[in-house]
This record gives sequence, C-alpha cells and structure tokens, in this order.
Amino acid sequence: MSAVKQGHGQWSSRMGFVLAAVGSAVGLGNIWKFPYMVGQSGGAAFVAVYLVCIALIGLPIIVAEWMIGRRGQKNPINSMADLAEANGRSKGWVMVGVSGTLAGFLILSFYSVIGGWALSYLLDALSGGFSGMDSDAAGAAFNGMLGNPGSLTIWHTAFMALTAGVVALGVSGGLERASKILMPALGVLLALMVGYGAASDGFGRALEYLFAPDFSKLTGEVVLAALGHAFFTLSLGMGVMIAYGSYLGQKVNLLRAARTVAIMDTVIALGAGLAIFPIVFANGLDPAAGPGLIFVTLPLVFGKITGGVILGTMFFLLLTFAALTSAISLLEPSVELLQERTPLGRVGATVLAGVVIWALGIAALLSFNVWSDVLIFGNNIFDLLDKLTSKFLLPLTALGAVVFVGWCLNRDSVREELDLSSGGFALWNLVVRFVAPIGVIVVFVSSL
Ligand code: PHE
Repeated sequence: MSAVKQGHGQWSSRMGFVLAAVGSAVGLGNIWKFPYMVGQSGGAAFVAVYLVCIALIGLPIIVAEWMIGRRGQKNPINSMADLAEANGRSKGWVMVGVSGTLAGFLILSFYSVIGGWALSYLLDALSGGFSGMDSDAAGAAFNGMLGNPGSLTIWHTAFMALTAGVVALGVSGGLERASKILMPALGVLLALMVGYGAASDGFGRALEYLFAPDFSKLTGEVVLAALGHAFFTLSLGMGVMIAYGSYLGQKVNLLRAARTVAIMDTVIALGAGLAIFPIVFANGLDPAAGPGLIFVTLPLVFGKITGGVILGTMFFLLLTFAALTSAISLLEPSVELLQERTPLGRVGATVLAGVVIWALGIAALLSFNVWSDVLIFGNNIFDLLDKLTSKFLLPLTALGAVVFVGWCLNRDSVREELDLSSGGFALWNLVVRFVAPIGVIVVFVSSL
C-alpha cells in the first residue's frame, strides 16, 4: 500500500475501524428518522424497499467508497483527483469528492440541531421533567422547544462543541475511541427498550406495521425516500466512508467489514422501530407524526413507568451518543480536506469547519420559529437542507463513486482490494457495474 503520509492518522485496529464505521452509520437516522419515515410512508412496504436498497445498493457502495479512500489515502476530493489521474480518467471525477464533502458539510449543520434536541431532552429526562405527561403535554413541550430559538441555539452550540472536541482529538484517539465506548452501550440500552416494548399492548400491531407490507402504498415517492434513507443511514454519498477508508490499512477485508456495518445498522434501525411503535400504538399516538415522533412518544412512557427517570436518561444519553459518533464522521471529510490543503493543523481545521457549519445550523434552527415563513421552493431552510442532501446530493455522489469503481478503476487493483475468487469477482462486477447504478438511476427517473 502507499506509504502512510506524515500526519495522516490510521485506525489502530480492524475492530476499531468497524466500530467507528458502525458509529457513523448508526445515528439519528436509525433512532429518530427511520421510525418517522416508516410512519409517514405507510409502514412495512417502505421497510421492504429499504431493506432491498441496503443489500443491493448500499452494501456495494460502502465497499466502493472505502476502496476509493484506501487507494487514495487522502481526503475525498484529493483521493478522487489522484485516482482519476492515475487511471487516465477525466478530471471531472473530482466532483464526486466535491459533492460528497459538500453534502457532509450541509448535513452536519441540521444534524447538529437535532443532536441538540437530544441533549435538551436528556436534561429533561434527568430532571424528571416527563413525569405524569400526557400526549398533549408531550406535544406542547416539543413545540415549545422548537419555538424557542435561544435554547435551540444553546443546545445546537453545545452539540457542535462536543463534536468538534472529539474530532480535534484525532482519528484513533477521538473518532475510534468514542465509538468503541459508545456503540456497545447503545446496543444494550436499545435491547432493554425493545424488551419493554415487547411486554406492552402495542407490540403485535408494531410488528405488523413494520413487517406486513401493503404494497399498494408504494409510490415513486416512497421508493425514492427509501433509497435516500438507505444512503443516509449507511453514511453514503457524503465523503464520510471515503474519508474513513483513507485511514485504513490494507489488511481489512472490505466486503466482510461492509456486511458487518450494514447488518448492525439495520438491526439497530429495526430495533428502534420495535422500541418506538409499540408505545405509539399502545398510547393511541399517530405513527405519521413526522420528525417529532420519538420526542412526543417516548417521554410519555418514561413519565409513567417505574424507573422512568433512569431509563429515560439512559435513552436520551445514548441517542446523544449515537448522534455524536455520526456527527464526528460528518465533520471528518471537511477537516481532513482543510488539514491536507491548508497550513492549518488538526485543531485549527476542526475549529474553522465547525464554526462555519455551526452558523449554517443557526439558519436551520431559525426555520422552526423566527424564519418559519422563509420558504425556498416551498421548503423552509431545514427541510431544504434535508431534501437537497438526501434526495439529490447523496444519490448522485454515491452513483458517481460506484460507477467510478465499477468502470474506471483498474480491474486488477479492484480485484486485489477485494480478495475474491473469480466467480465472486464476476458477481461483484455485475453488482457495481449494473445493479447498483441502474437501481439508483431508475429510482431517480421514476420519481420525476
Ligand atoms: N448515518 C447516520 C445516521 O443514520 C447519519 C450520517 C449520515 C452520518 C451521513 C454520517 C454521514 O444517523
């Protein structure tokens, strides 16, 4: 492999890398966004399409992005530029790195706002603020939070500061160490929550809602949303996995690591659904409530059950952790870029990127209150950032990455990266050259 560049960090172990990648993948997308998207898109039909997208499109694209990073050993933009040149391809391929880095940057701005919600609820849970809440009170508390730009700003700022703090500590000392501690803790807590859900009245309906598809509910819109979410939840199309791959040594088996990441991510998303929907159904709440879903459902339970203060505190703590291990990965491509392309050191690069993203986050959080009337193409700033990235930048970047690996990278080097038998390699080629790209394109076109 190419020599490790000076100042360019590396993961300390295979396990550390996999956990960091799982830490990136498992985040608000799994615990906050997946359940409400299922709710808004009519349940199990969405889940079914989502699972297919993960297996046939997401998995090969994770491998493609890691491969670009590992062969490039630089930030996503420079990795793409170097690889395109080395393989005699157009300089235009650099756009994959540019749009990926841009997407990560834009996503973090609003991701941090929601990370701030998690922090704010953590404090409420800890102080027993959910006790005796009914569903009206829970809704009012959530809307009250959104209506208060001052406290949203404080929480968003705190969350960005935590994120930047970890990133400034570096690849193995910050990103890897945080994930190694936080991810196992998240798994244990979620299992407890599912156990609680399984014992409640709504569990049967939740199972049906998640796993008994009514395909008449499938529309182009739903399919596109499922694909966009598959990218989002696997942290694809935003340079993150390219950056994580650039800190990778040659020993790690990419296919096996990708399978682990995809499985863990899916298990946690489904687990979140099994924790949350029983509560929704048992309390007569609306599964299509939208982005407020977990924030207006879970407090009801935590306010009611014995041990609710402890369980609630743990839940929102771990939601915060899940968000944090994803947020650090979103900051990484911008930081890696600044570090490699400017005289700034790790800390300076982190501060600069963090401050700009923070400022954009302020615009996003104002769209819940002061700027709620500011509409761009009919969307407020928050929704615009979300839609622009998950429906547009992510699929396009991911498409670019997989087409590049499928069609432009030297075949021998790809084969060497994957360590596959010839049959396995033929299958891999089929998937990266045709199945994944066509899948992305078809969904795009049919949504138009
Ligand atoms: N995958 C993360 C989630 O599901 C979000 C994320 C997207 C993180 C992109 C990094 C990059 O919450």
